[in-house]
Amino acid sequence: MNLSQASLQRLELLAQDSLKRVLLPCPLDQRAFDFSSNDYLCLSQRADIVEAGHACAGKYGAGATGSRLLSGNLECFEELEAQVAEFKNAEAALVFSTGYQANSTGLAALLDKNLWGGMVGGTEPLVFTDRLNHASLHHACQLAGVKQVRFRHNDMAHLAELLNKHTDSTQPKIIVSETVFGMEGDLLPIDQLAELALQHKAVVYLDEAHATGVWGPQGRGLGAIQHPAIDTLKTMGHWVIMGTFSKAVGVSGAYIACSEIFKQYLLNRCTGFVYSTAPSPFVIGAVRKALEIIPGLNVERETLHTAAETLRTKAQELGFDTGLSNTHIVPLVVGSNTACLKLKSHLQQAGIRTSAVRPPTVPPNAARVRLALNTGHSPAVYEQLLQALASWRVST
Ligand SMILES: Cc1ncc(COP(=O)(O)O)c(C=O)c1O
Repeated sequence: MNLSQASLQRLELLAQDSLKRVLLPCPLDQRAFDFSSNDYLCLSQRADIVEAGHACAGKYGAGATGSRLLSGNLECFEELEAQVAEFKNAEAALVFSTGYQANSTGLAALLDKNLWGGMVGGTEPLVFTDRLNHASLHHACQLAGVKQVRFRHNDMAHLAELLNKHTDSTQPKIIVSETVFGMEGDLLPIDQLAELALQHKAVVYLDEAHATGVWGPQGRGLGAIQHPAIDTLKTMGHWVIMGTFSKAVGVSGAYIACSEIFKQYLLNRCTGFVYSTAPSPFVIGAVRKALEIIPGLNVERETLHTAAETLRTKAQELGFDTGLSNTHIVPLVVGSNTACLKLKSHLQQAGIRTSAVRPPTVPPNAARVRLALNTGHSPAVYEQLLQALASWRVST
């Protein structure tokens, strides 16, 4: 069998299970009806942000020319990292080209047995992970070769039970979770998680991809809330926060906000940082401007949260299952992959673009149409969406 035959066979198997993905055009003039985009604050289109990207590229060039450890350590990266550290109320920050890269290689560096070897005699860390964590977080565990101890989604009692099973272990403990779950649209009980981590002297690694810009004080993420356990974990250097610039920030790239010493470790040992060209200066300029703007958008965040609450209520009244959602991400959980594709196509015919989220992104039989709300959606668009949802109900 040659490569084309093997690929075709695999694609046919995916299609049989309604799991084959295809690339569709995303016309700019239909953005107002788009519920599949993660541009939650519509910052990707703001003229001042685009302009700031151009200005930074004008000053530093289109590309960074190399890894930060070689030719690429332009002043603008250091400036952005100082800004991110301030934004997240952290000691330091390190910038990456994508969130996937930050998680898969940054978390893998944190889980590296050689990091912990000196302290505890070379045993691998015990990694406690939420069952619904993003693929990039799973990838990090695979890359580091560590076994995950998985707790039920957002179930802090289950996490406590698992941590208690290992109280006499000399292995370092690391807890990994998202703060806003991208496919469920629910919030991590972060204060409970922080208290448990402190009790067990665990390191916390949180992914704020969907929270950055939208949740927490002035959109700084849930990890920026004031809480005594969080403050103590920060002082211990046990509070590591990852987030992206690719969703509400409206650009691309990611950060890890942490202690200065862990940043120094990462820039020595994190493969995605060491062996990759630094992001384009355009991205850095645009992100810097977006981060200046975000704290001032409380009214927009409030509007988004109110719209989500209203949509959830109305969708539930129509008989839809919105799962665990309590954020600006509202899934319509339908179960089967075929029903999911049919609902997506029904909404598409009504002019509303959505995402059909199927396994392995979500567990088996938990396929859903994901509605990601943004500040550009008008009352008329919500009305159009609800009418389409009502007509789906009538037709099924
Ligand atoms: C929770 C979470 N983490 C990380 C990522 C990866 O971020 P990026 O798209 O910037 O690579 C995503 C994107 O889908 C995500 O949803």
